[in-house]
Amino acid sequence: MQNIITTLKKLFYRWRLCQVPVKQPIKISRIDNLIIFLVCILISIISSYKLLLISSLNIADIFSWFWTFTEILICSGVLILVSKKENPTISSRQIFLIITLLLAVQVTKLALASTISPLSMIIPPALIISQGMGSITALAWVSIASLIWPDPEIVINNNLFFILLACASIVSLLGGRIRSRAQLLQLSILVPIGSFLSQWILIAKDKTSLINKQDFVLANGDIFSDSFVLAIAMLFTILFMPIFESIFGLLTKARLLELADKEKPLIRRLSLEAPGTFEHTLLICGLAEEATRMIGGDIDLIKTGALYHDVGKLHAPNWFIENQDGSKNPHDELDDPIKSAEVLQAHVDEGLKFARKNRLPKLIANFIPEHQGTLKMGYFFQKAKEKNLDINENYFRYKGPIPQSKETAILMLADGCEAALRAMNINASDKEALKTISNIIYSRKKDGQLDDSNLSKGEIFLIKRAFLNVWKRIRHRRIQYPTSKNNTFS
Ligand SMILES: [Fe+2]
Ligand SMILES: [Fe+2]
Repeated sequence: MQNIITTLKKLFYRWRLCQVPVKQPIKISRIDNLIIFLVCILISIISSYKLLLISSLNIADIFSWFWTFTEILICSGVLILVSKKENPTISSRQIFLIITLLLAVQVTKLALASTISPLSMIIPPALIISQGMGSITALAWVSIASLIWPDPEIVINNNLFFILLACASIVSLLGGRIRSRAQLLQLSILVPIGSFLSQWILIAKDKTSLINKQDFVLANGDIFSDSFVLAIAMLFTILFMPIFESIFGLLTKARLLELADKEKPLIRRLSLEAPGTFEHTLLICGLAEEATRMIGGDIDLIKTGALYHDVGKLHAPNWFIENQDGSKNPHDELDDPIKSAEVLQAHVDEGLKFARKNRLPKLIANFIPEHQGTLKMGYFFQKAKEKNLDINENYFRYKGPIPQSKETAILMLADGCEAALRAMNINASDKEALKTISNIIYSRKKDGQLDDSNLSKGEIFLIKRAFLNVWKRIRHRRIQYPTSKNNTFS
């Protein structure tokens, strides 16, 4: 019986391992949780207190208020849960941004509901949230911000409510995918035009004069001025987006693409001062991108992370083999494996310093220590062992942490496979290449480096296939094409 239970437990454990797991959520401190909870209470009070402002208050009214208050509190909680589900690595600052925007909208509704269209209040924050935290969080925010209407006396036109939901949903869905500021600009022009046309058709075709110079901007309820205010609000949101990015640590697609620009001073320095490392970085970008595409991860994140993973080598480029160009190896002159191991560890420590100096987002800086994890510097460990058999292995291990996300784990695997694939014979078969890749990945896995990454067995299989595909491309590039002397072009 005991054996059956143990076998069942093992089977269950193996089944769990094969599932696509969820990322480990980031722990939020108690104080942050308390602040977030208090803001949620404030939102509930602001959104429901008007129900108590009745001259003859009875128990039914109090019950109705309490029901609304609880409903809003639960909605705020659901919003936070959805944002955590979509972004397991969400920070307390970002949760704070989501609920503060909800609070701001509720206050604005109370103060300016009769003067500003709900479109201008709800769509710009939806743009910020979709850009920084994804479409699902933005959609959840929009539905809750639209539902919790604080003043029951304000009756929103049904058609306007429909237009509001349609426009906000479009902004939420597209905002999470848009990859450049130019596209954002297009969105901020096209959505107000769309809202104007739909309002004109569905609400006020007969009532509103399109060219009413007297009531051009500030006319209350004028669909042209409402759409104009919406366009201005969206443009200002885009203008201030970099400030939101830096204050709340948001990593938008546009910011990722800006950081991935190879003309950035740090990357330019890498290409000039450590050309070997730069070449290694570019090849790793290709491997990691292909693998991430296969498992459905964040391609923009890994491309940018890969670009910066070894910037720490700038502190001493010639101490790394890829930059030595056949010249003397300083490690041989040093002849001290422990000191050599310190130089290797320094590429992580210095990399983190470069990341701080250049204000790289945390998600990008994480690639610097996590791509090395706690890997053993095998070569120097062996050299040290030749001198002293009792040498402690820990001197020759990187300080970590081990990869905490699928993307950083893929980068570690790409980093390990890159040199081996580059050094492979051009005539090597696919089977040989796959065996080399599998051996490297297996050794990392056996060493416990992938334990926190949540990569499933199926995903590791796909990663191996992706690396093999890149190897095939590299091999194809290296094949010399026969060219005749008279015809050197085609
Ligand atoms: Fe490295
Ligand atoms: Fe590397």
